[in-house]
Amino acid sequence: MKNILITGGAGYIGSHTCKALAQAGYNPITFDNLSAGHKHAVKWGPLEIGDIRDSEALSKVFKKYKTEAVIHFASKIVVSESVREPESYYDNNVNGTLSLLNVMQTHSINVIVFSSTAAVYGYPETNPIEESHPLLPINPYGETKLKCEELLEKYRDTHGINYIALRYFNAAGADPTSELREEHEPETHLIPLLLKAAKENKPFSLFGNDYKTPDGTCIRDYIHVTDLASAHIKSLEYLINNQRSQCLNLGTGKGYSVREVLEAAKKITSKKINEVISERREGDPDSLVAKADAAQKILDWHPQQSDLHNIIRTAWQ
Ligand SMILES: NC(=O)c1ccc[n+]([C@@H]2O[C@H](COP(=O)([O-])OP(=O)(O)OC[C@H]3O[C@@H](n4cnc5c(N)ncnc54)[C@H](O)[C@@H]3O)[C@@H](O)[C@H]2O)c1
Repeated sequence: MKNILITGGAGYIGSHTCKALAQAGYNPITFDNLSAGHKHAVKWGPLEIGDIRDSEALSKVFKKYKTEAVIHFASKIVVSESVREPESYYDNNVNGTLSLLNVMQTHSINVIVFSSTAAVYGYPETNPIEESHPLLPINPYGETKLKCEELLEKYRDTHGINYIALRYFNAAGADPTSELREEHEPETHLIPLLLKAAKENKPFSLFGNDYKTPDGTCIRDYIHVTDLASAHIKSLEYLINNQRSQCLNLGTGKGYSVREVLEAAKKITSKKINEVISERREGDPDSLVAKADAAQKILDWHPQQSDLHNIIRTAWQ
C-alpha cells in the first residue's frame, strides 16, 4: 500500500481526503499540529502530531514511512485573521511550505498536491475565472497562497519536484455517510453558519444585499468536499504518470447567490431562518465562479456530489 503524507489531514478537507485515499487503496499518514484540526477526524491512517515548520519532525516521519507523495492542506485559513496578523500567516503558510519542500527534497519525494484557493485572483476582471486570470490577491491569506504557488514553481525548476496547485472555490458539504463533517472554529463559511442559525433558532447575518447580482447578494461557486477529495487523488495519479506541474481551478462553473443558498437551506432543514441584513464585509467581490473545464479535462474529474441541495443535505445530516 502506498504511503501518502497528508499535512493538515485532521482538518475539514484533509480528513475527507484521507477517507477517499484509504478507499482508493492508499495509506494516508496525517501530519498535523492540531491547531485547527481534530484527532477524532483521523480515522483512516496514522496521525503524526507535528508542525510543518519543524523540519526535524517532518524528516522523522519521512524516515518512518516510505512516502510516495505529499498532499499539502496544512494552513491557516481565516481571511479576516490574516488581515489582523499577516505575519503569522506568512510564517505558518509560506515558511511552513518552504520547510516541507526542503524536507521533501532531502528525502527525494518529488510529487506534491497543494491546496490553493480562488483568493489568489483577487477581484475578478471576468467571470467565470480562468486559471490565466491575473493573480492579484487582496488579503494576506491569498498572498501567502500565491507565494506558495511561486515556491512550488521554483522547486519544480530547480529540484524537479512536480506539483499540482488546486485553486478551490467554496468547499462545502460533508461526508455522505456522516462519518466526518465541517468543524471550523471560528466558523466563517456560509453553509455551516446558516445551518447553525437554523438549528439554534438564532439570527443569520447576511453581509450585504446591494451587490451587482440579480438578487443583490454575493454569488459563489460551491464544490462538495468529497468531489474535492477525489480531485486530489486524480491529481496525485496524474502527477505520478505525467509529471506535468500546473495550477487548476476546482469548482463547478455554476454560482449560487447567498439568497439562493438561504432559501435552499430553509427548504432542506424545514426550519425558519431569520436573516439580519448586515454591513458588507470588506473585500467580498460580487461574484466568484470558476471556469472549471481544465481540471475536468486534464484530470478526467467530474464533480458528482456538488448539486447545491446535496451539499446542504449532507452538511445538515
Ligand atoms: N475550506 C475552504 O473553503 C477552502 C477554500 C480554498 C482553499 N482552502 C484550503 O484548503 C486547505 C484545507 O482547508 P480546511 O478548510 O480543511 O482547513 P482546516 O483548518 O480544517 O484544516 C487545516 C489543517 O491544517 C492544520 N495545520 C495548520 N497549520 C499547521 C502547521 N503549521 N503544521 C501542521 N498542521 C497545521 C490544522 O490543524 C488543520 O487540521 C487549506 O490549505 C485552505 O487554505 C480551503
